[in-house]
Amino acid sequence: MLYPVIWQNNSVSLIDQTRLPNEYTVVQIHRSEDMAQAIKTMIVRGAPAIGVAAAYGIYLGSREIEAQNHQEFLEHLEKVADLLRSTRPTAVNLFWAISRMMKTAYETLGTVVEIKQKLWETAQAIHAEDLQTCHAIGEHGLAALPPTPEKLTILTHCNAGALATAGYGTALGVVRSAWNSGRLERVFADETRPRLQGAKLTAWECVQEGIPVTVITDSMAAHCMQRGLIHAVVVGADRIAANGDTANKIGTYSVAIAAKAHHIPFFVAAPLSTVDFSLPDGSKIPIEERHPGEIYQVGDTILTPGAVDFYNPAFDVTPAELITAIITENGVFAPDKLTSFKY
Ligand code: MRU
Repeated sequence: MLYPVIWQNNSVSLIDQTRLPNEYTVVQIHRSEDMAQAIKTMIVRGAPAIGVAAAYGIYLGSREIEAQNHQEFLEHLEKVADLLRSTRPTAVNLFWAISRMMKTAYETLGTVVEIKQKLWETAQAIHAEDLQTCHAIGEHGLAALPPTPEKLTILTHCNAGALATAGYGTALGVVRSAWNSGRLERVFADETRPRLQGAKLTAWECVQEGIPVTVITDSMAAHCMQRGLIHAVVVGADRIAANGDTANKIGTYSVAIAAKAHHIPFFVAAPLSTVDFSLPDGSKIPIEERHPGEIYQVGDTILTPGAVDFYNPAFDVTPAELITAIITENGVFAPDKLTSFKY
């Protein structure tokens, strides 16, 4: 099995996802600042994995604080939390995990040493729960897939796999469950411009497990649907508003429109920790804008002429009406029924 975040030797080991698939390297993180940098530079990425990494980031930060006085300790810890919160704006799992860690810090009675111990236990719990959640999403998703044909071709966008979670994946968790139960013919992976998470990471994960995978450019998805090559779409999510509007990697919205036009079911697979019940709809979901170099440069090659402008939003919002169902660890819901699971 593939685990992008591992707690070992009193520190966190991260698979460096910026180097895959050409190099498999592991980065050792001992300090909260380095964890913040790893999230920002996408060494670790994918909403649930970012949440797990941030939880450990809070614990690592707590270890660096020398104050034994509660008030002083919490003030320092708030600074650590602020740093981690400033890394990436869209994936709500980041904020969810940090809030849970901070709640632990505020509510633990005892010495500062005891609070630190409790923070470590909470980070471990967030980590372990995410793995269980992904397996549950895989099982529920398998049951929700179209009954025919017997062997399905599933299209996915970006990487919502083991690399994007504690392990197993959300969208790729459904794919894995389908593969393990003989219901999967193959995966179509959109390359996912500009950072190519589909071509690099989803394809790599599938190859590791012998799951047949076809990589296409993003502009080929509608054509493949029109030709009858795709039976279902399953994607992950970075933030889901209370009405089911879903932010996910840029390009997801176009895939959803194309799926609707071809009467192909479009599923979002995500843990309930990805639902932001404070937002009634997707219009207020903060959308990260990244450096234009992701568009104009591939390796050392500059693709565009000088003196042009760029716009590089990293996510888009798919309206709930384009989503067939949302697959969570607690079951599969029509997007407008999510609120029954507010927690
Ligand atoms: O920018 P990234 O690579 O962090 O974006 C990842 C995605 O958009 C995923 O689809 C999403 O986080 C779900 S991961 C289970």
